Amino acid sequence: NIVILDCGSQYTQLIARRVREMKVHSEILPWDATIEQIMSRTPTGLIVSGGPRSVLEPDSPRLAEGFFDLKLPILGICYGMQLTALRYGGTVRRSAAREYGRATLVVTDGECPFFAGVPERSQVWMSHGDDVEKVPAGFVPTSVSEDGVVAGMRTPDDHITAVQFHPEVSHTEKGAELLGNFLFKICGCKGDWDLGDWAEKMKDEIRAAVGEDKVICGLSGGVDSSVAAALTAAAIGERLQCIFVNNGLLRAGEAEEVLASYRQMKLNVAYVDASEKFVKGLAGVIDPEKKRKIIGETFIRIFEEEARKIKGARWLLQGTLYPDVIESGQRKGAAVIKSHHNVGGLPKDMNLSLLEPLRELFKDEGRAVGRLLGVPENIVRRHPFPGPGLAVRCLGDITREKLEILRAADKIYLEEINRAGLYDEIWQAFAVLLPVYTVGVMGDERTYARVCALRAITSRDGMTAEWYRMPHEVLARASTRICNEVRGVNRVVYDVTSKPPATVEWE
Ligand code: XMP
Repeated sequence: NIVILDCGSQYTQLIARRVREMKVHSEILPWDATIEQIMSRTPTGLIVSGGPRSVLEPDSPRLAEGFFDLKLPILGICYGMQLTALRYGGTVRRSAAREYGRATLVVTDGECPFFAGVPERSQVWMSHGDDVEKVPAGFVPTSVSEDGVVAGMRTPDDHITAVQFHPEVSHTEKGAELLGNFLFKICGCKGDWDLGDWAEKMKDEIRAAVGEDKVICGLSGGVDSSVAAALTAAAIGERLQCIFVNNGLLRAGEAEEVLASYRQMKLNVAYVDASEKFVKGLAGVIDPEKKRKIIGETFIRIFEEEARKIKGARWLLQGTLYPDVIESGQRKGAAVIKSHHNVGGLPKDMNLSLLEPLRELFKDEGRAVGRLLGVPENIVRRHPFPGPGLAVRCLGDITREKLEILRAADKIYLEEINRAGLYDEIWQAFAVLLPVYTVGVMGDERTYARVCALRAITSRDGMTAEWYRMPHEVLARASTRICNEVRGVNRVVYDVTSKPPATVEWE
């Protein structure tokens, strides 16, 4: 078991996941966990995450007294490295410029087991405002970034290894190898844990939590809620009652397609068409956070209504994944980025308890669990779709007319992606309708119509993303067809921004 001390980094769960990918169990504890709490997990190694704060601020996170005296290997990442430096009498300074993004790492310590098998130079991902100016006495520097910042240090006995960059982020070329070196070469982990075990354990936990109660589940058609339902159905059978709400913000043909898949999965599903309610509730609302809140609350109200019809329903099952949890700023020390409806927007007076069996998992772990449980491939493969649906892709206020335009454009775009056989290479692809009119010419007529933006990204978890290098022919076909076939659009643009600095969705 590896215990990760979370100092509030956006990437903490990524660390946990990378560790699990190497079949080593990992758990996250808040930075202020006591030594007893840490040791009760019987760790074989400890990782201290990065964080948004500066160690130079007086009230920034500090680890439990005695943490560094534990006789266990420690890996400090970014903030974790700076904490280590301070603890042992090194110095930390505000960086001259915030270092953000890709950097070239140069390994200077050929003996360091953490860097074993890694080339002398490789790409790493940096994200910090402070750096270690002076390595503490008793530590040796292991690597530098090309512009001379200390990128790593260790104690010669390998009790402590620390790095300034983020080995857990997929943009760090050799990140997996580096974490693997920590787990297997330094901590001596075995690597025999897997998701099948996790699923079995989770089924037991669901049974224990729910007892004889009934559970209702809001199915969205996406991977997350479907896998959560499959897992819960495997645990409590008939006592899971699913509800599929059409919120009027779905893609073209989505409701029908999804219902068919659920029938195939033999889930108990009631269909509620609430599109009128949602679209009315959103009328005139422009602020993205407000849209999310309205959608979240409307959703929950409808579930409550449906739940009342089911005697003994006490639980609401949701397919919340870990990225939703972190981005809602539910942990100590993490900053709020967007409120995701299935976490942050819950009304306070909700009568149902939340059951979120996937909240520790990343998307691809969720998919893997789905496959283990026999969820149909068309659902497991499906691109993620945000809870607020087309509302956050139809910028500005929502009207039926705009939603229809967006649906039509989105459908064409996805048809062209599918026709080119690119769907599975892409993490998410979608159209966005902009609240902007531009001038065009069609036939001999001047037009003044809307702009449609196309976006496609690759990602491993939605936390960081790279814009997808879409072949020009696919863009050309989509653009021509959208302008020809979708009334109200006369211009198509392609989004070439990664995350960060943009988010995946436009709102
Ligand atoms: P962002 O836009 O935050 O998106 O970079 C990251 C991933 O989350 C999805 N997303 C949401 N999912 N409720 C959801 O269930 C939401 O409010 C929400 N906002 C974004 C987004 O599609 C991407 O996969």
